[in-house]
Parts: sequence; structure tokens; C-alpha cells
Amino acid sequence: MKLWGGRFTKPTNELVDEYTASISFDKKLAQYDIQGSLAHVEMLAKCEIIPTEDAETIEKGLKVVAEKIKAGEAELTEANEDIHMNVEKLLIDEIGAVGGKLHTGRSRNDQVALDMRLYLRDSLVTLVELLKNLQEALLKQAKANLDTILPGYTHLQRAQPVLFAHHMMAYVSMFERDVERLSDSFKRVNRSPLGAGALAGTTFPIDRHYVAEKLNFDGVVENSLDAVSDRDFVVEFLSNASLTIMHLSRLSEELVQWSSAEFNFVELDDAFCTGSSMMPQKKNPDVAELVRGKTGRVYGNLMGMLTTLKGLPIAYNKDMQEDKEGMFDTMETLKGALALFAPMIETMEVKKENMYAAVAEDFSNATDLADYLVNKDLPFREAHVVVGQVVLHCIQENKYLLDLSLADFQSFSELINEDIYDVLSPKSVVNARDVVGGTAKNRVEDQIEQAENRLTETGAWIEIHEEKVNVLKK
Ligand code: ARG
Repeated sequence: MKLWGGRFTKPTNELVDEYTASISFDKKLAQYDIQGSLAHVEMLAKCEIIPTEDAETIEKGLKVVAEKIKAGEAELTEANEDIHMNVEKLLIDEIGAVGGKLHTGRSRNDQVALDMRLYLRDSLVTLVELLKNLQEALLKQAKANLDTILPGYTHLQRAQPVLFAHHMMAYVSMFERDVERLSDSFKRVNRSPLGAGALAGTTFPIDRHYVAEKLNFDGVVENSLDAVSDRDFVVEFLSNASLTIMHLSRLSEELVQWSSAEFNFVELDDAFCTGSSMMPQKKNPDVAELVRGKTGRVYGNLMGMLTTLKGLPIAYNKDMQEDKEGMFDTMETLKGALALFAPMIETMEVKKENMYAAVAEDFSNATDLADYLVNKDLPFREAHVVVGQVVLHCIQENKYLLDLSLADFQSFSELINEDIYDVLSPKSVVNARDVVGGTAKNRVEDQIEQAENRLTETGAWIEIHEEKVNVLKK
């Protein structure tokens, strides 16, 4: 008989069992489910809702069940629907009828919300750690490329030269905001819904705060209807994850471009590329492409969850069982991508000469010629026209600005002198952007220093929160 079989007169249709069961995927929550039960049963005894010796028997039994599941020795069945009822059934098989006291004052509705939060908070700390590793790899490349100049692009057209270090630091900043979002969301995830019961609370004199403290939560989700029925913390995670993978996808696209023969700016390490089954010469940036591709499923999981929740009446509805697979999938996808990206970036060879050649062979110093004229009091709008004419002349003559003689320059404007050659050199052009956040070397060095300080703060955050989520594992 099913754990809830009392009011039924016949067994469930097999297809219904198969269709409604969640055990195939929520078995991932097994250890969190048991952690939650251990805290719950301890509270039941403390509040004298069940005798202490029963609680001790249940505790021992739960630990045996935990070990059996870990070792793959426990049979988890669709007939028992989900991880919660499977664990309860295994417990009763292990210790007998007294195991049936575990579920006193509790529902699967508050139990599942608890398990989701325990899983998510744990994974958030791992994600922040993985993001930190990636930031460190980017910083390493930034420091090694403080003199590497490449064209900066707008509309994928060469625009103005920038330091490769500056380009790397742009990504460090993006991932810093991702860390900020994930770590900020932790405090909303880290609240205990247990004690909400099925929807209205319970008649037993439970102590919700005691359970919350046992499980290292920062507090409880107070309103019982809210506690069992909202999954905004899942949506928030899926949304934060979407932003992170969007950043990874943009970096992926750049790696794909840069490693093409057309750009030839970087060479990804062999260990992070794959070959072609037919074309022996091929070396493909598959990891970057696949991360770019997987961005689609991560966005899809967000849309799926938002759509599932839309229009659901409170409190729990079976629809909400759909919260798990998308969350697990996004988590695994993101963890996998981040774990690969850090070493791939760290081992990437930067082809400094090719980057420099691309800067020398273009007009990315044209703005600087205009700014030069402005410094000699020509209004910017007029300077823009003059430089436009110089560029047109160069294109017709198949030359770049630095190929022009002083006489050539002066035929366009009397204001131009010998010092123009230094002003237009790529290094001067870069270092002239000497404003906060600009690409001048000293400004990029400032960015690096600040980013490193913030990484130290992230490290401290990880340490504190690892402790919080690990207490249960000891
Ligand atoms: N397997 C269910 C889920 O994941 C657990 C909660 C079910 N509650 C219920 N009353 N059917 O959502």
C-alpha cells in the first residue's frame, strides 16, 4: 500500500505512477532530505511531541538509510513517487513502525521547499568559487598583457586600440557582478520553510526557529502559504545563471573569432580543443562553441520556470514539481562551463605580434588626430571633417595615417606639426585614454589592483558561507 493509500480503493494506474513520479530526478536531493529530517526529528523530541528514545531510533535509522543511498544499496522506486516518500519507506523498513512518527507536523510541501533551498545554497557557494577561479585566470592574462595592444571594435569594425589587459578586465568586471548577484541571493535562499506544513502550519507545538538554527539558516520563511508555494528563489537563481552564461557566451564568441585564421589573435591550448573526423588539419574551439550553445537551454530553463509559476494559485500545486529538472540542469551546465573556462583562459596563448599588426594596419588612431586638432582650438565637428578627408586620401593612396609625410598632413591642416607621429603611435593612443576606467596602462593597473582587493573579499565570503553550508556534512 502507498503511504497515502488509506482513502483509496484500488491501486494507481501504472502510467500515472510513471508520469507523476519525480524520483528519477529528485533522488539528487536525498542527502539534503535526510539532513532536514534529522533536524526535524530532533526538534520533535525537544518539543516533547515524540519520545526522545523514538527520536533516537529514527535518527539512527535515517543515518543507515543515508549510507545505503550513498552506497547505491537502497532501492528507490517509482511506486514510492518521490525522494521524500522513498526515504520514509526505507526508514520504516529499517526500524519498523516507529519510523512513521518522523512525518509528524510536516508535509512533503514544506519538506520539498526545504530540500530545494538546502541544495541551492550549497551549490551557490560552489558557483561563487568557480567564478572566482575564472576571474583569477582572466586577471593572470591581464597582468601578462599590460603592454599588449589590439584593436578595440565597435560594430566588429576596428575602432580604437586598447590594451588586451583592458579587454580581460572588462570580463573580470562582468563576472564580479555575477558574484555579487549570486552571493546576494544567498540570504533569500537561506531561510527555512519547514513548519509550514501542507499550507497552514501545524497543530503540534513545533519550534520552527530551532530547526532553522540546526540547519544553519538565517531565519524562517514566515508565512506558511508563502513558504510552501513560492519558488521565486529558483527563478532568481535561473535568472542570475542566465546572466552569467550570457557573459560566458560573449567571451566564447570572442574566443571563436580570435582563434580563427582571419583574426589569429589567440591559440587555445590543445587540451581544450577538439579535431575533425574528416579534416586532419582542423582544431576546433568546441568548448567555447558549446558554452555559447548551452546558453539557449539555460535561458529556456528560466522561461520554463517563470511560465510554470505564472497563474498558479497558492499554495502547493503539483505543477511545482517541474521546478527541479531545470534548476539541476542549469546548475550542472553552469558549473561545467565555469570549470572549463578557467583553465582554458589561463592556458590560452596570446599572439601579441598579430594583435599589434592589426592595430598598425588600420585607422584606429583617427580619433586621436581629431583630438590633436581640437587641442589646437579647432572645434571638434570641424576636426572630424578634416580627419575624414585625411582618411579618404589615405584609402585612395593605399596608406595609413603614419605613412603620410608632414607635408601631406599640412596640406589638410596647418595646425599639424612634427609631434603628430608620436601622438598617433598605438602606445601613445592607448596611454592618452588616461581617465578612470580608460585603457591607459596606469588606469588598467588601477583596475587590476581594485579587482584583486575585491577578490580577497569574495574569498572571505566563500570561507564564511562554506562553513555555513558544510556544518551538516561534518
Ligand atoms: N515530489 C513533489 C515535488 O517535487 C513533492 C511534494 C509533493 N506534495 C504533494 N502534496 N503531492 O513537488
